[in-house]
Amino acid sequence: MGAAYLGGMDAGDGGPAPAAGPAAAAGAAPGRTGSPEGRRPVTVPAVRLRKRRAGHQPLVVVTAYDTPGARIADAGGVDVILVGDSLANNVLGYEDTLQVTIEVMAHHTAAVARARPSALVVADMPWLSYHLGAEDAVRNAATLVRAGAQAVKLEGGTSRVPAIEAIVGAEIPVMGHLGLTPQSVLAMGGYRVQARDADAAASLRDAAQAIAGAGCFSLVLEGVPDVVAAAVTDAVDVPTIGIGAGPACDGQVLVYHDLLGLAHGPRPKFVRQYADLEAVAVEAVAAYAADVRSGTFPSDAESYHAAPEVAERLGAAPPGGSRTPVR
Ligand code: KIV
Repeated sequence: MGAAYLGGMDAGDGGPAPAAGPAAAAGAAPGRTGSPEGRRPVTVPAVRLRKRRAGHQPLVVVTAYDTPGARIADAGGVDVILVGDSLANNVLGYEDTLQVTIEVMAHHTAAVARARPSALVVADMPWLSYHLGAEDAVRNAATLVRAGAQAVKLEGGTSRVPAIEAIVGAEIPVMGHLGLTPQSVLAMGGYRVQARDADAAASLRDAAQAIAGAGCFSLVLEGVPDVVAAAVTDAVDVPTIGIGAGPACDGQVLVYHDLLGLAHGPRPKFVRQYADLEAVAVEAVAAYAADVRSGTFPSDAESYHAAPEVAERLGAAPPGGSRTPVR
């Protein structure tokens, strides 16, 4: 999730390491067509098998919230694009994820799906879209599927088992999310690393087994000690995907804006920033502003032209002399 809401977590290091290469989608399966990158589409059953202990490469997951973001993520070779409800913090300017609705998530899921990525598209079920009963949860999950999601993600442990079973029962794959669950920010009293003591760690492991047993095909572990993430990863047969959960998970997820340097606020220690796109963008906009103010933009070549009689008829002097008409 975004630095915006994890600013309260331990700040610290996070030195460089090799980036995952493109087309890391070992285990991808045929099926969908039309990927702009020509990769084989990644499916839920293929992701479900991606345990590192079975010899698979770590899963690479990144968030995206719109069509260009999804194109970039897919071209970078990620396995899974998560339309996270961190949309709220990273794109919509909210303080927390509690502000986004199912309609907003569907709108952005559709934008991501229009990129037709080879990566699996998973959409977050927002707060209150799966808390009011199984029927409501299934209906909301279906809204995301009809918008273009191939699976949904929801937060929480044992208390979410009925919702997970109902959604999976409707043939919609579910990714779980445990540990620091941002939709519980009020109940947690802030964004804090979870499961630091032995009891909480054991409960987290039990919760992971419960939601995996309910049918989750994978689960995100956010903001938990590395040793706890390792134990949970050992305890379940589905892949764990870590964010602030150390290296033992079966995969890793980063927020697009954190990875590319587009996020605001303090950077949590688990974020590795691979580019500073904000600086590049600010420099580009400043150069444009300077060119407009100095009169060097637009140039003759960047302008459309009309025959000299048009200027004559209008009584206007042709800027910069006579020009060839351009359609
Ligand atoms: O919304 C989000 O970005 C997430 C993460 C797991 C990164 O849920």
